[in-house]
Amino acid sequence: MSEPKIAGVSWKDWVRGVEIEPSIYAASFLDLRGQLDDVLAAGARILQFDVGDGHFVEPVTIGPIVIESIAPFVHGRGGVLDCHLMVDNPERHFAQVARAGGDSVTFHVEATDDPARTAALARSHGLAVGIACNPETSVEAAASAAAAADAEVVLCMGIHPGYSGQALLPETLERAAQLRRLLPDRVFVQVDGGVKRDNVAAVRAAGVALIVAGSAVFHAERPGAAYAELAAAVA
Ligand code: DX5
Repeated sequence: MSEPKIAGVSWKDWVRGVEIEPSIYAASFLDLRGQLDDVLAAGARILQFDVGDGHFVEPVTIGPIVIESIAPFVHGRGGVLDCHLMVDNPERHFAQVARAGGDSVTFHVEATDDPARTAALARSHGLAVGIACNPETSVEAAASAAAAADAEVVLCMGIHPGYSGQALLPETLERAAQLRRLLPDRVFVQVDGGVKRDNVAAVRAAGVALIVAGSAVFHAERPGAAYAELAAAVA
């Protein structure tokens, strides 16, 4: 079991205006401790953790066993684990993610037929809740699922999910801006995929508070410095 988490299980306790979220999926697993230490020391608080099942997305990625091994370290440094479930039947995974030390789950609107029930189950496990939408899903559908679920986050994918290192789909900026207009102020808009130093300010300008960056952080020689540069660009 993981150590105590930082204040509460609500996104509003974690978000400091705008957050760059390093995506662990892009890290070097040989040096995971060192890389996590580097980004947390540089000021990162929210780390995205991508769970992929080889079905909803092509690759099998990382899962609760890895959450369990890193959660005490991350929580001990004031960090939280934002678990993005790129899986079919997300409800099957909530108990394990929570037990392993995950702080939130973001499940896909394409993977549930009842967002309110799915969100309630996540909360019953002490997890904060977000809803994600793929590039081909309408933002209206995502916003209405988020309302039904009372989600705190709507994740607008900037790529077709599955792999780090893809280019940001250009329509993402308009989709994120639309979501920002459709959602109440208390709901954070998140973008994940294709964020780099040269587009991070535009993503922020679209009203995005949670900006995930995988390869832009972890493929850099010094991930902490790369995180800090992105954070400075949107401060
Ligand atoms: C992939 C994941 C992303 C990915 C982002 O589907 O959800 O978080 O790691 O990586 P970059 O920032 O390299 O696109």
